[in-house]
Amino acid sequence: MRSPNPRWSLILCFGACVLSSSPFDWPDVLGGAWLFDQGSTFGFQPTAGGIRGPAPDWALGGTIPVVRYAVFVEGSQVALAAVSYPGSIVLIGNVTHGGVLLTVSAQLTFKSVNTSVVRIAARNHGPQAVIVSFRVTIENINVTELTDNAVFFSLQESQLSCFRGPAFGEGGLFLSTSYLENNGPKNFTWSRTRISADSLVFTSSNVSAPPLGLISAFVSVEATLRNSSQAGTAIDLNAAAEDAFRRWTGYLESVLVHCDKQDMKWAAVKAVMTLMNNWRSVPGLPDGVLPSYNGYESGFWSWDTYKQAVGMVSFAPQLAKDQLRLLVSARDKQTGHIPDKVDRCGNAGGCNGKPPLLAWAVWEIFQATHDTMFLQEMYIIVKQFHEFWYSARDVRGAGLCSWTQGMESGMDDGVRFMPRYASSVSNASSHVTTLDFWSIDLNSYLYKDKLILFAMAAVLGLAREAQDWKAAAELLLPKLRETLFDERAGFFSDMYFNGSALPVQGCEGYAALFAGVASLPQARRMADTLQDPKKFLLNFSLPSVSKDNPFYNPHGYWKGPTWIDQTWFAYSGLRSYALESKRRGDMESEAVFSRLALELKTRLFSRGRGFSYQDPTPFNEHYDPETGDPEGAEHFSWTAAHTLMWVLEANAPEDWQVWT
Ligand SMILES: *[C@@H]1O[C@H](CO)[C@@H](O)[C@H](O)[C@H]1NC(C)=O
Ligand SMILES: *[C@@H]1O[C@H](CO)[C@@H](O)[C@H](O)[C@H]1NC(C)=O
Ligand SMILES: *[C@@H]1O[C@H](CO)[C@@H](O)[C@H](O)[C@H]1NC(C)=O
Ligand SMILES: *[C@@H]1O[C@H](CO)[C@@H](O)[C@H](O)[C@H]1NC(C)=O
Ligand SMILES: *[C@@H]1O[C@H](CO)[C@@H](O)[C@H](O)[C@H]1NC(C)=O
Ligand SMILES: *[C@@H]1O[C@H](CO)[C@@H](O)[C@H](O)[C@H]1NC(C)=O
Ligand SMILES: *[C@@H]1O[C@H](CO)[C@@H](O)[C@H](O)[C@H]1NC(C)=O
Ligand SMILES: *[C@@H]1O[C@H](CO)[C@@H](O)[C@H](O)[C@H]1NC(C)=O
Ligand SMILES: *[C@@H]1O[C@H](CO)[C@@H](O)[C@H](O)[C@H]1NC(C)=O
Repeated sequence: MRSPNPRWSLILCFGACVLSSSPFDWPDVLGGAWLFDQGSTFGFQPTAGGIRGPAPDWALGGTIPVVRYAVFVEGSQVALAAVSYPGSIVLIGNVTHGGVLLTVSAQLTFKSVNTSVVRIAARNHGPQAVIVSFRVTIENINVTELTDNAVFFSLQESQLSCFRGPAFGEGGLFLSTSYLENNGPKNFTWSRTRISADSLVFTSSNVSAPPLGLISAFVSVEATLRNSSQAGTAIDLNAAAEDAFRRWTGYLESVLVHCDKQDMKWAAVKAVMTLMNNWRSVPGLPDGVLPSYNGYESGFWSWDTYKQAVGMVSFAPQLAKDQLRLLVSARDKQTGHIPDKVDRCGNAGGCNGKPPLLAWAVWEIFQATHDTMFLQEMYIIVKQFHEFWYSARDVRGAGLCSWTQGMESGMDDGVRFMPRYASSVSNASSHVTTLDFWSIDLNSYLYKDKLILFAMAAVLGLAREAQDWKAAAELLLPKLRETLFDERAGFFSDMYFNGSALPVQGCEGYAALFAGVASLPQARRMADTLQDPKKFLLNFSLPSVSKDNPFYNPHGYWKGPTWIDQTWFAYSGLRSYALESKRRGDMESEAVFSRLALELKTRLFSRGRGFSYQDPTPFNEHYDPETGDPEGAEHFSWTAAHTLMWVLEANAPEDWQVWT
C-alpha cells in the first residue's frame, strides 16, 4: 500500500495515523472528483494550489468560487499540490529553509451540512523557530458584503422551492482570528486587499513556528444565511477537523476489516466515497442518497435507495435507515404505493413506481443492526406496499402481478417492453390496467416479500400474521415454478396469460435465483444457460439481455449492458443454491453454482474498469458486458453499494439459504 510520507502524516493525522484504516492511506482513489459530505448540497473540488467551491450540485459547470491557500516561510511561498483523500481535500508541500524542513498543508473537511473547515498548518521539523504567514486568495466571487475577517458572496440559486432564499443563495468565507501554536490558542490578524471586482486576498500577520512545533490557522467556508455566522475559534475548528478525521476513519474501518485483497480494499474505499458524495439533506425531512450527483441530482429514486441502504448499513447505519424513511414519507397512505422517486424537496414524482425491494432493504438493515424499533416502524409500511401490488397490478385476479410500463420495472427500455412484445390490457370490473404478461422479477420479489414479512412478523411477536405470510408464500411458490419457467429456453421469463413465454431471456430472470423461486433442477438449468458464453457469461459480466437476442446491444442501456445490481442478484442467488445443494449433499450442483458465482465475482473485480487497485475511474451506472468499460452516469451509488455487498460477504452470516 502507498503509505503517506511519515512527515505528512505528522501534519495531517492529528497524531493518529497509526490506525489501520486512516483516510490518508488512500490518496486520489477518485482522482480529482468533487467532495460532498454531511448531506451538503454544496461541494468542493481540488484545483492547482486551491479548492473550487462551494458549488451547489445542480451548477457544477457554472461560475464557481476558487479559494487558493498559500503558506509563506520567512517570506517565500511554499508550492502546494492538491490531493484528495476520503472525506477531505488536501493541499500539501514542503520547503527547506536554512537546512530546516517544513511541511505545510491546507486541509478541507466538512464540519456540518453547511460548513466546511480549512486547517492551514505548518510543521517545523527543525531546531530553530521560523517566521510563517498564511494567505487566502478568493477568486470568481460576487461580493455582497465585506468585513475585516469575512467575505459574503452570492451563489447560483436553485429552482427548487425548498432551496430558495438567502440560506441557499449565499456563501461566506470566514477567517478565524485565533490560531494554534502546538495546541495553544493565540490571536493574530488578517489584512484584506481587494484585487478586482471578483477577487480579494487576506494575509495573516507573521507568526512564529516554534522548533519541532506545529502552527495552524483556520478558515470556515459556508453556504449560509448572510450575517448570521462568524468564524469559530481555532480550538473549535480544530476539533471539527479532528471529528471529521475520526468519522472517516470509522467508515473505512467498518468496511476494510472485511477484506484483505488490495484490489477489493481499493474498491471498498471508492464505494464508501461514492456513496457519501451522494448523501444529501432534504429540508425538514430525513436525509437521502442520490443515485449520482452527476446526472441524477434531481432526486432520490426508490429502488436505488433500497440497494444503497443495504450497501451502506455496514458503515453508515443511520443514513441507511434515513434514506428509507425519506422515501416512505412520500408514500400514498391510502394505497400503500411508494413513488418512483422523491425530488430534492421530498415531493413524490417520477413514473408509475419501482420494484418492491423495500422489505429486503429493511430486513438487511435489521439483520445488521438488530434494531427492532426500526423493524416495527417499517413493518406496516412494507405490508401495505406488498398488498398494493395485488390490488393494483393483478389484472387477471390470478394472484400474479404485471408491470404497467418498463419504467416501473426499473429496466426502462428492456427488450421485453418493446411494443412488439408488450401491450396494455384492462380489466373492466377491477379497473386494473397493466401490460399483458406476468413478470418474473415482480412476482419473485413479491414471493421474497412474503418470506420476509413472515420473518418480520415472527420477530415482532405477531404469530398469527407470521403463519399467514408463511402459508401465502408456500401457496405461491409452486405456482411461480409452474407458470414462469420457460422449459424450452431453460430460463425464467415473463409469461403471457395464455402460458407462452416471451421470447426474451434477460436479467429479469435472475430474480428467480435471488428470491429462491427456482427449484434446484430449475436453478441448474438457469446456471447452464448463464454460463453459456454465447448467451450470458460474456467476457466481463452478465448482460441485461442474452447476447443471442436479436436486439442485444452492448451499449443499449437495458438492452445489453451489464448492470452491477443485476449481476449481484444472479450472484447472490447462485450462492444460495450452492449452499442449499451442499445441505442436500448434492456436491455436483454445489460445484456448478459455486464455480459460476466465483467466476462472476472474479471477473467484476479483475476486468471492471475502476475496480482494480489504483484505478481512479469512478463507478458507473452500467458497463459494456464484453469489455468492462464504464457507460452512463459516473459516481453511481448502487454500483458502489453492490460492490460493498461483495466486499462484506467474507464476514456475512450464513444467510444464503433458500427459504423453501
Ligand atoms: C513577515 O516576515 C517576512 C520575513 O520573514 C517579512 O518579509 C515580512 O515583511 C513580514 N511581514 C510583516 C507584515 O511583518
Ligand atoms: C517534498 O514535496 C515533494 C512534492 O511536493 C515530494 O516529492 C518530496 O518527497 C517532499 N520531500 C520531503 C522531504 O517530504
Ligand atoms: C455574478 O452574478 C452575475 C449576476 O447574477 C452573474 O451573471 C455572474 O456570472 C456572477 N459572477 C460570478 C463570478 O459569480
Ligand atoms: C484573543 O481574542 C479573544 C476574542 O477577541 C479575547 O477574548 C482574548 O482575550 C484574546 N486573547 C489574547 C491572548 O489576547
Ligand atoms: C446550517 O444548516 C442547518 C441545518 O440544515 C440549519 O439549521 C442552519 O440554520 C444552517 N446555518 C446556516 C448559517 O445557514
Ligand atoms: C442580515 O442583514 C440584513 C441587512 O443588512 C438584514 O435585513 C437581515 O435581517 C439580516 N439577517 C439576519 C439573519 O440577521
Ligand atoms: C378481472 O378481475 C377480477 C377480480 O380480480 C377477476 O375475477 C376477473 O377474472 C378479471 N377478468 C379478466 C378478464 O381477467
Ligand atoms: C399468447 O399470447 C401472446 C400475446 O397475446 C401471443 O402473441 C401468442 O401468439 C399467444 N400464444 C398462443 C400459443 O396462443
Ligand atoms: C476479455 O477481458 C480481458 C481482461 O479484461 C481482456 O484482456 C481480453 O482482451 C478480453 N477479451 C475479449 C475477447 O474482449
